[in-house]
Amino acid sequence: HERTLILVKPDGVARGLTGEIIKRFEHRGYKPVAIKLLLPTKALLEQHYEEHKGKKFYDALVAFSESGPVVAMVWEGFGVIANARKMLGATDPAKAEPGTIRGDHAIATGRNVVHGSDSEKAAKREIDLWFRPEEVTRWTSAAGKWIHE
Ligand code: GTP
Ligand code: MG
Repeated sequence: HERTLILVKPDGVARGLTGEIIKRFEHRGYKPVAIKLLLPTKALLEQHYEEHKGKKFYDALVAFSESGPVVAMVWEGFGVIANARKMLGATDPAKAEPGTIRGDHAIATGRNVVHGSDSEKAAKREIDLWFRPEEVTRWTSAAGKWIHE
């Protein structure tokens, strides 16, 4: 049951890209196990982005991330952590391949629409940060047998 945290950042929500992003994960065969829209607190964002504390873009990153609602999601499925990163595309959308979310929908690093956990450890840490345990559901998709051998 590999899981990852995906965020539609404030720019993605404001631009009406939430459905487009959910669609890509659904169509790939991944399963949502938690989804919510919220205005994140500064405290949450400081924890989320703690690895970037002290970098020159950190203050702008936290300020932008609390500037509007975000959609936080947990997606589950085979290889979802690494594959989600591929589906997102490069951090700098100008370098992201067409066909990726950033490559199709963004041009600036500070407005790159989505976040995805970058490792198993980060995924666990970030899911625990954004969701209470009871918010993450267990359910069986009827399509599962058409997606897994
Ligand atoms: P996330 O999935 O959002 O974590 O992106 P990432 O893992 O591809 O990038 P990273 O964790 O290194 O940086 C986190 C976020 O900080 C990026 O998604 C950008 O929004 C922002 N960021 C990173 N580097 C820069 C930079 O050099 N300039 C600016 N303005 N923002 C940056
Ligand atoms: Mg990152």
